Amino acid sequence: MIRIVHLSDLHLSDGYFLPDTAEAVIESVNDITPDILVITGDLTQYGSYNEYRNAEEWIGRIECRNRVIVPGNHDSRNVGYLLFEEIFGKRSSSHSFGRVTVVGVDSSQPDVDDGHIGREMYDWIAECFRPGEIRVFALHHHLLPVPMTGRERQIPVDAGDVLELLCRCDVDLVLCGHKHVPWVWRLNGMLVVNAGTACSKSIKARTTHCYNLIEMEDERLWIYRVFPTGKRELIVDLMNEPES
Ligand SMILES: [Fe+2]
Ligand SMILES: [Fe+2]
Repeated sequence: MIRIVHLSDLHLSDGYFLPDTAEAVIESVNDITPDILVITGDLTQYGSYNEYRNAEEWIGRIECRNRVIVPGNHDSRNVGYLLFEEIFGKRSSSHSFGRVTVVGVDSSQPDVDDGHIGREMYDWIAECFRPGEIRVFALHHHLLPVPMTGRERQIPVDAGDVLELLCRCDVDLVLCGHKHVPWVWRLNGMLVVNAGTACSKSIKARTTHCYNLIEMEDERLWIYRVFPTGKRELIVDLMNEPES
């Protein structure tokens, strides 16, 4: 069994997040003992140094050594993308954790909320995925529209080309955030999984704080929506059909 915890949109800034909720999230994630932790951006609100230090401390309390963290649009504000690199390393990176490859890409731009991957990244992304592995792609911005989020905006300007690339690379899972609403789409055999906000005050409609737990065993995959209390809701139960 491989367990991936996917958190997003923490916004760990005074006045923008709920400390009790954040504490409960850390506790419930540690109870899961994930193999891999993916955080899809918006760790901070303004990309400031103090916020980054808080985020480093907060994330450091999650007991998982295999981490992939990408910045969100809020993290790239006020030259925060330089602090991201200083504290968390490269903004785009590829990691192999046993059978699982996770490619995390920075979809943010300085002081702009729109998403953007960029043609110059496509060849590198394709080279990161190798045959026989479970392929996971992580970015902050939503690659597909998400219900209950109002007028569509800030989707990566090259979302169509990136989706085609990921399908061509036989990516299994796309993990994203930004909209603060959880959702799962199945597209051409690929699961596009949006996380809600883990602990920020910015909640949409009647959604609530949550994160994703993806479990994989043999040919089977489960996705759970997990609430800060640790309570889970099964969203996807998938048996991968062998290709004919
Ligand atoms: Fe956010
Ligand atoms: Fe965002």
